[in-house]
Amino acid sequence: MPALVLLGAQWGDEGKGKATDLLGGSVDYVVRYQGGNNAGHTVVVGDQKYALHLLPSGILSPGCTPVIGNGVVVDPSVLLSELSGLNERGVDTSKLLISGNAHIITPYNVTVDKVTERFLGKRKIGTTGRGIGPTYADKINRVGIRVQDLYDESILTQKVEAALDGKNQLLTKLYNRRAIAVDQVVEELLGYAEKLAPYVTDTVLVLNQALDDDKVVLFEGGQGTLLDIDHGTYPFVTSSNPTAGGACTGAGVGPTKISRVIGILKAYTTRVGSGPFPTELFDEDGEALRRIGGERGVTTGRDRRCGWFDAVIARYATRVNGLTDFFLTKLDVLTGWEQIPVCVAYEIDGKRVEELPYSQSDFHHAKPVYETLPGWSEDITKAKSFSDLPKNAQNYVKALEEMSGAPISAIGVGPGRDETIEINSFL
Ligand code: GDP
Ligand code: IMO
Ligand code: MG
Repeated sequence: MPALVLLGAQWGDEGKGKATDLLGGSVDYVVRYQGGNNAGHTVVVGDQKYALHLLPSGILSPGCTPVIGNGVVVDPSVLLSELSGLNERGVDTSKLLISGNAHIITPYNVTVDKVTERFLGKRKIGTTGRGIGPTYADKINRVGIRVQDLYDESILTQKVEAALDGKNQLLTKLYNRRAIAVDQVVEELLGYAEKLAPYVTDTVLVLNQALDDDKVVLFEGGQGTLLDIDHGTYPFVTSSNPTAGGACTGAGVGPTKISRVIGILKAYTTRVGSGPFPTELFDEDGEALRRIGGERGVTTGRDRRCGWFDAVIARYATRVNGLTDFFLTKLDVLTGWEQIPVCVAYEIDGKRVEELPYSQSDFHHAKPVYETLPGWSEDITKAKSFSDLPKNAQNYVKALEEMSGAPISAIGVGPGRDETIEINSFL
């Protein structure tokens, strides 16, 4: 059985952590392939709740090897504190593998993230302030620091010098900040080397050998399709490729190995940070979705913007990711609405548009065209099979499936591992 990709089909926070954890018990490896600790993945196991930022959600499944792939950006201090936090709660993290080619989020990358956002003022992206964009920028500019550099002090010093050269000019002359000392950064980074050493390896080789041995590998996306640097609502995006292709570059596995791409899809829509969001609600329905859905950022604690389900986005996610399945989450949150509007198309400058416009200005003007579906009031959190759902909930799911272009193979009816209806098996 080959590789599966599990990714966000909207703007992140769809419930990827829960979905990955659910499959974690049956797979051999769970791999993060992009992003960093901008992610906030919540996993609820029994009465225990875990918030993971950098570690793959498979870390909570004892039989599973968690892997941080080459496409991820790693803040070593966050990683070490996440590991010790889990160890204190009795979770064994010793199987973790980290790619030596993954890039490191340095303290100056975090500083640059914060000052550039401040400088953008009203035009800010609303980043998580974790240094993600500047670290990927350094990678592309070929002045990045990689995990393997921690093991060669001379190379590390040269690289930090090269990276700080231009940045210190910017920090002091443009942003009116103090220059950052090379020695200090090198010393801090070297301090992580020994602690990380047991985990660092050639993850590309490990994963490809595992696939040759018929092991099951699950790639866990951070963020979501509409936050993708190429396919999302640029510039209001993150700086990596959460879409399916990112799993290949971010883990060093060829596309021929991937047999299933699962899109995690919330039964309504949320977004954190700036940028267009056609179905966003500013009324009490939006408030109610936020309250009932607990829509508050796991990483930054910001309230999430909330709106109705957008089928145009779901269709787009199906296309750019080649989705084979959807995992629909948080259906239980919609219980109690008499009528539930669903966006089936946009109206842009008086014209009906069925597909996501490539033009940023068109997307900014897009107004949702709604169809209203009848709601349900019965508690669905104990439902174990599709037929346990009230007829109107079944019809809501079927309507979404038809509009979105791929089968809905699982439905989340609560945050817990067992609060899931499985329709088609993923494995
Ligand atoms: P991620 O970033 O995609 O992993 O998602 P987050 O963890 O940021 O946000 C999803 C939230 O919804 C978390 O608090 C989950 O515990 C919760 N959740 C996931 N699936 C369900 C579901 O089916 N129903 C309900 N009520 N909550 C869910
Ligand atoms: P998970 O994995 C939701 C958003 C930020 C901001 C933009 C850029 O939990 O779904 P960045 O710090 O990445 O440069 O910020 O992307 N963002 C997320 N929104 N869920 C996430 O992760 C996100 N990670 C980044 O709010 O708008
Ligand atoms: Mg999240």
